[in-house]
Amino acid sequence: MDTPEKKKVIFSAIQPSGTITLGNYLGALRNWVKLQDDYNCIFAVADLHAITVRQEPKAFKQNILNAYALLLACGIDTEKSLFFIQSHVHTHAELAWVLNCYTQFGELSRMTQFKDKSAKHADNVNAGLFAYPSLMAADILLYKSDMVPVGADQKQHLELSRNIAERFNGIYGNTFTVPEPYISTVGARVMSLQDPSKKMSKSDENVNSWVAVLDKPDTIMKKFKRAVTDSEAVVKVGEGKDGINNLIGIMSAVTGKTADEIAVEFEGKGYGDFKTAVAEAVIEEVKPIQARFEEYINNKDYLVEQYRKSAEIAEKISQRTLDKVMKKIGFIAK
Ligand code: TRP
Repeated sequence: MDTPEKKKVIFSAIQPSGTITLGNYLGALRNWVKLQDDYNCIFAVADLHAITVRQEPKAFKQNILNAYALLLACGIDTEKSLFFIQSHVHTHAELAWVLNCYTQFGELSRMTQFKDKSAKHADNVNAGLFAYPSLMAADILLYKSDMVPVGADQKQHLELSRNIAERFNGIYGNTFTVPEPYISTVGARVMSLQDPSKKMSKSDENVNSWVAVLDKPDTIMKKFKRAVTDSEAVVKVGEGKDGINNLIGIMSAVTGKTADEIAVEFEGKGYGDFKTAVAEAVIEEVKPIQARFEEYINNKDYLVEQYRKSAEIAEKISQRTLDKVMKKIGFIAK
């Protein structure tokens, strides 16, 4: 319904890649949870995107379900938001095909993620990997999304989605809402614990470089204790102190304390004490999430009920956009 105070639509999705890191949580998911009160939020587990690299069926299935349960555990609330599994809503793959025909080979060739991933999976540079951004555009455009919260790695894809939308609107008249990036003011950029010049990433072969939200407390402690620091032994933000800056950033994100407050608190203390304190704070933060995850993952009926409910609504909303698109192009309605 069109009401004057209509909330803006936010869309985002995450791939079910098996592990959700502390970086994903502090940098993105925690913000999604907050956005739910002020926006019309639509979230999805992007399983269709995931098959652009080869997946082992059993593990894939478990990863999808785990991702769904973990996001619920983080606070995605199906009473406030739509939260579904991408492949359950058939309009995504359909619109993606259509948009493929309005996306240029040259544009897709320029995507840095495609270049990176095709180098990494040289034995499987499939057409889906190439067309990945047009599926993402379909995800976003189906819901007339006003804003998309994206990290730096997805900015180029969002820019392409905007270009596709504008191009289509230019040919057929106003059809799509052109989405804006949603720049979060609070999102923490969590860096690798082993090489703090790089973003924390679960694809890093050094498992000590990242912490998973579902890591056991002693694993979290161990990884933080091994975190790279510097030789100054002063807990304070500073140049050439990327490791400590990162740990202070994490501490600040989980406790709400400012970097200055943290520096005062740890004045005269060594890095060992500080690392332990950061690990303890992180363990405290993830503890309730882990408990809720256990609860959800062991309650399959509840999960099914949640994802079905959202998929049904998502299908209705997105079908309207797809119908409009098909009609504008000249397809015959059945
Ligand atoms: N490609 C995104 C990622 O890997 C996930 C994604 C799929 C997405 N569809 C989206 C993000 C639509 C934002 C909007 O992080």
